[in-house]
Amino acid sequence: MLRMRKQMPILLTVVPVFLLAFLVRAPHVNPPNDPTHSMEAVLQPPPEVAGTLRRACGDCHSNETKWPWYSQVEPLGSILTEDVEKGRRALNFSEWRNDKRAAAVLLAACEAVESGRMPKSGYRTMHPDKTPTGTEVRALCAWTQRTGLQLLTSSSTKHKRPAGD
Ligand code: HEC
Repeated sequence: MLRMRKQMPILLTVVPVFLLAFLVRAPHVNPPNDPTHSMEAVLQPPPEVAGTLRRACGDCHSNETKWPWYSQVEPLGSILTEDVEKGRRALNFSEWRNDKRAAAVLLAACEAVESGRMPKSGYRTMHPDKTPTGTEVRALCAWTQRTGLQLLTSSSTKHKRPAGD
């Protein structure tokens, strides 16, 4: 008993330290970012559309993820990390190219938001303020449709800026 009592304070320090080591993870590091390669630089969307995409999608679909506090606490940290890795692979607004897929990607972005599939539901729960409003979704989709069509019909692979810019 006496031995046990002596060990208690040690256990009381060691156990929480171990638990913390498991639950708290190192801060995340974003990949290097070159703003000239971004979708915003290449396609120059209207500021309100760019703002919506940054706010609602940027954490998972860009190299400029703003890692929230819970990203350092397990198991939420691992869930978000996986979402960011998969999200960047599916669509990365920081590494934009006007290739053959570009128009389809823009239209898919509109469809994903309109259907409520994106942003992902867990993320919407954690960040209700980042969820796009109906007006924002309409503005986004009007732009993706306009730009998608321009990309499809432009003769060269390079995107032509809309007249009047
Ligand atoms: C919490 C992270 C997260 C946020 C925020 C997010 N996405 Fe995604 N997105 C993903 C992941 C992960 C995938 C890969 C497929 C999957 O797991 O559903 C994906 C896939 C996609 C795809 C391709 C597949 C599909 O479902 O059409 C599109 C398009 C897309 N996202 C658009 C968006 C747009 C537009 C926004 C902002 C309004 C957004 N996403 C916000 C994580 C996210």
